[in-house]
Amino acid sequence: MADKRILLVVGGGIAAYKSLELIRRLRERGIAVRAILTRAAQHFVTPLSVSALTGDKAYVDLFSLTDEAEMGHIQLSRDADLLVVAPATADLMAKMANGHADDLATTALLATDKPVLIAPAMNVRMWNHLATRRNHARLIADGVTVIGPNDGDMACGEYGPGRMAEPHEILAGIEAFYQSRGDRPLLGKRIVVTSGPTHEPIDPVRYIANRSSGQQGHALAAALAKLGAQVTLISGPVTLADPAGVETRHVETARQMAAAVDAALPADIAVCAAAVADWRVAGEADQKIKKDGSGRVPALSFVENPDILATISRPGPRRPALVVGFAAETEKVVDHAKAKLARKGCDWIIANDVGSGPDGGVMGAADNTIHIVTAEGTESWPRLPKTEVASRLAARIAQTVKERNI
Ligand code: CTP
Repeated sequence: MADKRILLVVGGGIAAYKSLELIRRLRERGIAVRAILTRAAQHFVTPLSVSALTGDKAYVDLFSLTDEAEMGHIQLSRDADLLVVAPATADLMAKMANGHADDLATTALLATDKPVLIAPAMNVRMWNHLATRRNHARLIADGVTVIGPNDGDMACGEYGPGRMAEPHEILAGIEAFYQSRGDRPLLGKRIVVTSGPTHEPIDPVRYIANRSSGQQGHALAAALAKLGAQVTLISGPVTLADPAGVETRHVETARQMAAAVDAALPADIAVCAAAVADWRVAGEADQKIKKDGSGRVPALSFVENPDILATISRPGPRRPALVVGFAAETEKVVDHAKAKLARKGCDWIIANDVGSGPDGGVMGAADNTIHIVTAEGTESWPRLPKTEVASRLAARIAQTVKERNI
């Protein structure tokens, strides 16, 4: 289990002594451990003993200027790939469930975008109290993994659930996490995918559309979900089934797609595979436009639609760490894609060579030829089935997530 980094939060309970054993066992397995001790935890174990076992300093004070300069609290939680809270006291659970951040431990827990595992430990009455039941349910709903507590004699002389799980049990939970992550490297990542065409109404019965089938975007959403990502797919009108394991929202127009994407943010990654109509009809008619018998045809004028990809790519706190756009090109594929990368401000452009192949167009076809254009260079892939392109692209995204610690 080398290359693994855990941030351990030690809460203030008698079970804190067991966290020393946990650190030792994690280190034996080659897992790097950084530890934060709450103020209360320092009454049960000393920063010195924790530091001796982690081989690092013990982090204790939110407002230590040197710590903030060397390793800010945000960095502390981002640097780990898993946060473990052991023991998780009733107070820590309440703070986590409600998003409090009034010391280093709770600030790191609120600032993290990494999975969290907790090992609760408290008096049986505190564990059974409705407030703790509520907090426990909330934390599980938030995606926190809970190990234990066990039934048993308590330090306070009572008997029942509330004893912290033993270090080997917590270790088993941690190993299970790393094992599942092995098959599912995008576990815990939120990804928004757009797919399909948009329909831009002329009047209540007519619309302007394009030939996008949504096959590539839908296949990519499914492939990302298979790697563990929490995928929200914003789909224009398509005849495809909603992919399994993906939350799919259906829209018709570009403006609806833009609003649905905005509602799905924040996300770690965004993939804009939709063939969004660049223009919509100005002054859409409320009633069906009728022939007036004069032989005159209606004149349509257009206005530009919001550019979803360019909007998502704008720098700011809501910008996903990786933004991927698509481009349909018939000539000078890579040159046009490079220009598009700069114009839209995204990180990758997947250029579809829509002119290539013996059977012509890519739209609606089962195969695709793509070039991945990034600031670092261009990677060209052979013509492949769209499902194969999807699984290879998902793996490429997972690799980037790992390399860039997204
Ligand atoms: N896109 C978008 N919103 C729009 C238009 C496009 O999000 N209103 C996204 C598409 O999902 C795709 C990329 O932008 O990821 C394609 O950009 P675009 O410039 O529209 O591509 P082309 O139509 O190929 O561009 P051009 O007309 O310049 O060839």
